[in-house]
Amino acid sequence: MQAGDTMTVTPRPLIAGNWKMNGLREDGLALARALAERVRSTGDAGFDMLVCPPFTLLAEIGLAIDGSGIALGAQDCHQEQQGAHTGDVSAAMLNDMGCRYAIVGHSERRSDHAETDAVVESKAGAAHRQGLVAIVCVGETGDERDSGATLSVVTRQLAGSLPDGASASNTVIAYEPVWAIGTGRTPCPDDVAEVHALVRDRVAAKLGLGKGRGEGEAQARAMRILYGGSVNPSNAAELLTLDDVNGALVGGASLKADDFWSIAERSL
Ligand code: PGA
Repeated sequence: MQAGDTMTVTPRPLIAGNWKMNGLREDGLALARALAERVRSTGDAGFDMLVCPPFTLLAEIGLAIDGSGIALGAQDCHQEQQGAHTGDVSAAMLNDMGCRYAIVGHSERRSDHAETDAVVESKAGAAHRQGLVAIVCVGETGDERDSGATLSVVTRQLAGSLPDGASASNTVIAYEPVWAIGTGRTPCPDDVAEVHALVRDRVAAKLGLGKGRGEGEAQARAMRILYGGSVNPSNAAELLTLDDVNGALVGGASLKADDFWSIAERSL
């Protein structure tokens, strides 16, 4: 890519907070209000912000951030739009609740709920059909990294998890090494850059199928590829300003408004 191209095609960073199974009403609302207030007082800070609270808080958090420019997302969706699936929530319901994003295939869903690439692909497709942006998560375990399988694992997960019809406007990829999630450990910047470059290349190949490599590459350049796994205010600048890193999926540090905001500012 030419330097001039970068100016026009590099997407704005997306800083996404994955609250996981944290937050009762009072804490969640205080956090959301603090972030909304920061956005309102700052104006356009140059990044896009997203919060993904637990299902139980979506309605109230949606109201608290309404009009602030912060987007609302969910941490999962079911692959069907309705029916006999006790305990599940569909993309149609999320859309109805004001969500614009749904995380799919997070490693905790893949491990705790035995979600395969095929399930993740169906969930991403369900999100797309409801007009939601699917944040498709991929990443290797510690054992896979130790055995040198990082690139092949990520390649396989991307091939199996991205649905037909995926595009830069309806899909975000989150690279989250499983061993880095919640551990305080992160890959070195060179390793993050290597995986993100691979992700963009694989996305270009997949999205170019039947349309030509040029179209695939254009879509891939415009697609946001987030890094996730122990992002905090101290390491955000070196990880999030790497080539091919277009923001972060933040777990623990997204539960504190000041830390989450600092991470966002360091993504620029
Ligand atoms: P962490 O979680 O920031 O707490 O490591 C990231 C994630 O699982 O999305």
